[in-house]
Amino acid sequence: MSAHNAQSLITIDTLNNLKANGEKFTCLTAYESTLANVISSAGVEVILVGDSLGMVIQGHNSTLPVTMNDLIYHLKNVSRGNINSHLMADMPFMSYSTKDKALTNAALLMQNGAHSIKLEGGRWICDLTSTLAERGIPVCAHMGLTPQSINRIGGYFVQGRDTDKKEEMISEAKELQSAGASLLLLECIPNDLAGEITKSLSIPVIGIGAGASTDAQVMVIHDLLGISCLEKPPKFIKDFLAENDSVQSAVAAYVKAVKAQKFPAKEHTFF
Ligand code: KIV
Repeated sequence: MSAHNAQSLITIDTLNNLKANGEKFTCLTAYESTLANVISSAGVEVILVGDSLGMVIQGHNSTLPVTMNDLIYHLKNVSRGNINSHLMADMPFMSYSTKDKALTNAALLMQNGAHSIKLEGGRWICDLTSTLAERGIPVCAHMGLTPQSINRIGGYFVQGRDTDKKEEMISEAKELQSAGASLLLLECIPNDLAGEITKSLSIPVIGIGAGASTDAQVMVIHDLLGISCLEKPPKFIKDFLAENDSVQSAVAAYVKAVKAQKFPAKEHTFF
């Protein structure tokens, strides 16, 4: 039976209020019910059923092989373990390549337990964002390093370092907000750019490898538990289990560190 409690469910409104009050919030990925329950119990506001599952669960070297069926399978498991966190689900590679596909697939995710969906892209997803938002689906736009485009980007590099690209990203973020995005996620961009975008938007901004000035942080749960399968883990992750004696206390330490603005620290940040 689902542990879901509609009374205290974290909603987009809750996240907006946290931003308005200057209180940092947390997000972690989960792919199955037991860890989802631990994460939600620790007070993590947002659980992301990310397409990172392609790498950390399925053992692929990118997120591209993840299908809608895979995503739905993991989403249903996470949903059963969730208590009251906001459940965000990734739209897999090519599942939003046309408006019709985006509508069908986003609806499937919402019908299987998601409270919002996440799409990768900048200006080109504005139209899709409006279409989904108008139909009642909260959208998180994922900008910066967008792993589904890894074959165009050429590697997992920091994005938005040059002035033109910076200006472009600030404009795109504002356009996404105007198009109806409820949340923005920034991956692997310099601290000052993330700060500028966060300041200029009223919607909450979640960061990973984007410094401490975003409204929230997200991490892949495997990275937090020190079991990254990458040969050289990226500088923005921290093994919280190394300093704690249980998974529960590692997750609680992450929540505490983000709220106290102790994580991410300088050594986890791109400048
Ligand atoms: O799929 C995922 O886990 C993500 C996070 C890395 C932000 O998109």
